[in-house]
Amino acid sequence: MSKITAAITAVGGYVPDYVLSNEILETMVDTNDEWITARTGIKERRILKDKEKGTSFLAIQAAKDLLKKNNTDPKEIDMIVMATATPDMPVAVTGSYVATQIGAENAFSYDLMAACSSFLFGMSVAAKYIESGRYKKVLLIGADKMSSIIDYKDRTTCIIFGDGAGAALFEPNYEGLGVQDELLRTDGSGRESLKIDAGGSLLPASEKTVENNQHVVFQDGKTVFKFAVTRMADVSEKILERNQLTGDDIQWLVPHQANNRIIDATSNRMKLAEEKVMKNIHKYGNTTSATLPLCLWDYEKKLKKGDKLVFAAFGGGFTWGSMYLTWAYDSK
Ligand code: UT7
Repeated sequence: MSKITAAITAVGGYVPDYVLSNEILETMVDTNDEWITARTGIKERRILKDKEKGTSFLAIQAAKDLLKKNNTDPKEIDMIVMATATPDMPVAVTGSYVATQIGAENAFSYDLMAACSSFLFGMSVAAKYIESGRYKKVLLIGADKMSSIIDYKDRTTCIIFGDGAGAALFEPNYEGLGVQDELLRTDGSGRESLKIDAGGSLLPASEKTVENNQHVVFQDGKTVFKFAVTRMADVSEKILERNQLTGDDIQWLVPHQANNRIIDATSNRMKLAEEKVMKNIHKYGNTTSATLPLCLWDYEKKLKKGDKLVFAAFGGGFTWGSMYLTWAYDSK
């Protein structure tokens, strides 16, 4: 029997309707469209306005989109990996709720949190379950309601993040297509540079933490930028090298959408032409766990069977990495 590889066989996505533009942000904090565009490349982001709805709502919509488009029976799904940094609530697994809501009654599920690298690390997990031969359909969802943890008075963070969700179905492939290689890294020295101070086991929620505004994202942008810009490029270059590939051999870079300048640094290091780089940061901002699958969702129609894709991400922790994958289908 030929070796089993783990291929992506369908994608889905969802972004909420409400558009938070740079112009609207100008009325909320001391910022301007020119600064945001030049420093990040972001023009607008989507926000889930309904306070009654959490990340699971976004994830459910993305999963349903995938199931419908691909005509997949949810009962056939073996497992759901829910990549998110903003679970509906602590302890109760968001993925379990999502599985039940979409009718994946034969699946088990858990949440996977690696900040902005959650989906990339989730791809590694999903691939391993498939490659083992034990499971046939693994649904990986990346979803974040970033607006639930952002301080809309802090101009250094509120201009960056948005809400969204994307999903990818992993199935066995016997032609050698799918995940080929990965290079995943972490460095705990970065934990103070991108974090939420309170609400975890180190500093549980209290009146004081609320008073001190410690339940929102803090980012030392400069430090994160310096790490991200070099680390994402390093692993992407390395994964090419060790697979004897050059930029000419690659059809697409699927980069985490945190900052246009970080994306450009990565693609430049890989010597990739601009038109080979997936970008939707201008319309969604940084959706954390959803950036990679939302890129696939937006570009799916352009992808062809056999295309060589390199994924790259960087996130809090720090976490980062790169993955080399060959695409398994022509647009349906
Ligand atoms: O996805 C997870 C990983 N995260 C990232 O990869 C994000 C990495 N970091 C970044 O993308 C960038 O650091 C930012 C976009 C967050 C910031 O860009 P920067 O070029 O590093 O700006 P900066 O923080 O050095 O700030 C430059 C100036 C400062 O003013 P002074 O001190 O030079 O007078 C800031 O106060 O820009 C000011 N500033 C702003 N001005 C207008 C900061 N935020 C804003 C703003 N509007 N929103």
